[in-house]
Amino acid sequence: MPILHNYLTLDIGVHSNVILSLKRQKEGRIYKTMTIFCFTSTGNSLYVAKKIAEKAGGKVLPMNADPGIITDDVIGFVYPVYYWKLPRITDRFIKGLRIENKEAYIFAVGTYGGAAPGVNSFIRKHMKQKGLDLNYGSYVKLVDNYIPMYHPKDSAALQSKAEARIIEIAEAVSRRENNRIGKDTFLNSLSFKAMAGEDSDKYFNIADSCNGCGICEKICPVKNITMEEEKPVFRHRCEHCMGCLQNCPALAINWKEKTRNKKRFRKDGITLDELIRFNQGE
Ligand SMILES: Cc1cc2nc3c(=O)[nH]c(=O)nc-3n(C[C@H](O)[C@H](O)[C@H](O)COP(=O)(O)O)c2cc1C
Ligand code: SF4
Ligand code: SF4
Repeated sequence: MPILHNYLTLDIGVHSNVILSLKRQKEGRIYKTMTIFCFTSTGNSLYVAKKIAEKAGGKVLPMNADPGIITDDVIGFVYPVYYWKLPRITDRFIKGLRIENKEAYIFAVGTYGGAAPGVNSFIRKHMKQKGLDLNYGSYVKLVDNYIPMYHPKDSAALQSKAEARIIEIAEAVSRRENNRIGKDTFLNSLSFKAMAGEDSDKYFNIADSCNGCGICEKICPVKNITMEEEKPVFRHRCEHCMGCLQNCPALAINWKEKTRNKKRFRKDGITLDELIRFNQGE
């Protein structure tokens, strides 16, 4: 009865989805494998994806390589919200994904620092185009890593609320719960291209403290940095994720003058080495 009880507590608006889930359970459908695709620059989303995978069972893969045809029964997307939208890399990746199992249970979790209204609806639209649906969507509020605008600030209260939310999501995913996916509005489509376009990396500047370690090159999720004469050179296909800047051990990378003397951020529990290996697909 606990599964039924959980479904009964859901919003009446998701009635048809609930019936579909119950029908699937009645049919004895067995969910075999779960893959969670994740994009991350400072570890918030990777932390959430790993926790869900740990609790609900599954593996986590980066969104920066073609995974081939997906045959999983459960597919998740965990990503950071960018300007009330999906990051370009997330949008491209999900749009291009080939999903074989048209019965797959699909969920999406956006991590964000301030507000994230309706962003999962973009994933739902991509799924609809593939003859699928987004069964469950949620968000986790974590440290806002948009360092050109804010001072990334962590707190025990933020962390403990996030932990509770992650457990809630992992349990909902384990139960293959369905919920209502909020709609996007015209506000989501306002463009911030000027600030965050692929060539926004022309505003990065490198301080003398750069020691040529090459970490920025390795951590970039889209290979937008190459080292030349022991200094990073940006290739103008930037995702504006700030991963290089946030993770440079010498604090040598700045974006215009806006990030100077601001504390850098990386999620507690996610190491630099782990972020590098994840983005390198290791
Ligand atoms: C380019 C950029 C744009 C962002 N836009 C938003 C936003 O619109 N709303 C919001 O709440 N947070 C925004 N953020 C903050 C991130 O969504 C948030 O910190 C996220 O958890 C970072 O995840 P990550 O550590 O996995 O990269 C933005 C961050 C970046 C780098
Ligand atoms: S990570 Fe920082 S110190 Fe290392 S090469 Fe890049 S800019 Fe220089
Ligand atoms: S160059 Fe820096 S900001 Fe641009 S995609 Fe690579 S890591 Fe992200």
